[in-house]
Amino acid sequence: VPLPRVLSGIQPTAGSFHLGNYLGALRQWVALQDTAEAFYCVVDQHAITMDWDPDELRRNTLVSAAQLLALGVDPQRSTLFVQSHVPEHVQLSWVLECLARFGEASRMTQFKDKSQREGTGGSSVGLFTYPVLQAADILVYQADEVPVGEDQRQHLELTRDLATRFNGRFGDTFTVPAARIPQGAAKILDLQSPEKKMSKSLPPAGCVFLLDDPRVTAKKIRSAVTDTGREVVADPVGKPGVTNLLAVHSALSGRSVPELEEHFAGRGYGDLKKELAEVVTEFVTPVRERTQELLDDRAELERLLAAGAARAREVAGQTVRTAYEKVGF
Ligand code: ADP
Ligand code: NA
Repeated sequence: VPLPRVLSGIQPTAGSFHLGNYLGALRQWVALQDTAEAFYCVVDQHAITMDWDPDELRRNTLVSAAQLLALGVDPQRSTLFVQSHVPEHVQLSWVLECLARFGEASRMTQFKDKSQREGTGGSSVGLFTYPVLQAADILVYQADEVPVGEDQRQHLELTRDLATRFNGRFGDTFTVPAARIPQGAAKILDLQSPEKKMSKSLPPAGCVFLLDDPRVTAKKIRSAVTDTGREVVADPVGKPGVTNLLAVHSALSGRSVPELEEHFAGRGYGDLKKELAEVVTEFVTPVRERTQELLDDRAELERLLAAGAARAREVAGQTVRTAYEKVGF
């Protein structure tokens, strides 16, 4: 039985990934390599839907790819590449744009959220059609499954609708991908505003980036907003801050939350933060070092990514040839 094919992408926008990205998504990328044929891409084309700096984007794309490798994405087992190196995504996207309805694209809540700053009128057309490019990212590989968090569900529904519409009109062409709820994914909260999810878009004091200096990491954790009381116990409603710190500790140390509650019994928040800073540092230090090594040998990194893109294009090229033929090109 062939392994299910999985596609997942991540934006290079911040350069460094954060603990939320890792514990909510990238850790599952690494694990999935055992049970799926994985296609993983750094989606640099999605990173230009809002304002961007070209040199920064190029740099962040390489830093992102290096981090994925450092975290355990294995180019021997998975196809790791950069979206813009595979022109077939955009080639397919145009056909899907012509099948997508303006009305259905207008219902995408992420566009409504992200267009608020510029206003609908001032936003780029790319921000509006970005879910269609995302559909192409997935369909061009005939992916069976897509690991998605809650925030991407609506986009995956659009992808499924577009695949079904194309197949109905032109004959069976695309695999209709299923959502895969990541096993063991955790939602990590911002350290300063533990009612919000940790995000690169919030002030950096609440967001632990994997490439932060360890002293910065320790300081962010030390300054994390905790709650009234002093007992280290998980209570998502009454103690969201402490619960979040315990969740991060548990995810990285592999010790269960009840076990940690017992470990911290009779001790305070300060002890939890001190130990958590050590646990996080122990995890990120080899990741940072390996990322730097990979970046220091840029030619080798670029060679790895070129090989990934070549492999991706074998699959994507076949899909585009078939789809183009069917639509009359
Ligand atoms: P950000 O919110 O920092 O902009 P992205 O939206 O680029 O991050 O998310 C990239 C991936 O990381 C997605 O799969 C998303 O679900 C996951 N992710 C982001 N933030 C968190 C978080 N705080 N907790 C769990 N998963 C997260
Ligand atoms: Na985001």
